Amino acid sequence: MSILKIARMGHPVLLQRAEPVPDPTAPEIRRLVADMIETMEDASGAGLAAPQVHMSLRLFVFRVPPGRTTAAEGDGEMGNTVVINPELEFLDDDKVLRWEGCLSIPGLRAAVPRHTKLRYTGVDTEGAPISTMATGFHAGVVQHEYDHLDGILYPMRMSDFSLFGFNEELLRAKAAL
Ligand code: NI
Repeated sequence: MSILKIARMGHPVLLQRAEPVPDPTAPEIRRLVADMIETMEDASGAGLAAPQVHMSLRLFVFRVPPGRTTAAEGDGEMGNTVVINPELEFLDDDKVLRWEGCLSIPGLRAAVPRHTKLRYTGVDTEGAPISTMATGFHAGVVQHEYDHLDGILYPMRMSDFSLFGFNEELLRAKAAL
């Protein structure tokens, strides 16, 4: 496995619509997924989409780390998870502001409106179908990573630019919970 170079905001690959993965069970996809998980863990990220490692393909990896769950919203801790050729179905019209960052936009975070409940489908590297309901942080990270596959970065979803800043300043101000 190896740590991949992460594309930062401004790189054109992050603004492209990614292509479906023709064969999710192909050895090169398995290798890409393993490298993406290692890269995500190395960067202490909660999610990573293939376009962020210069591969314009519709797949992402994520996890729900301890301490990021929102028990009141019914989500729980999750280990490393891959979703290939995902589709989202929103199950609620409600949106909430969630603080999020992005490995392609280092040092910054913002409050972004996200749906509260959704179902995502797709397949894993065995070709097995995935169909999962998500709420809370889980729902937020899936929407963030899915957006990467459509060339959308979180600032493009923001409604209030006063809730955007550098991690250090936000933590100092205790604004980012
Ligand atoms: Ni991101």
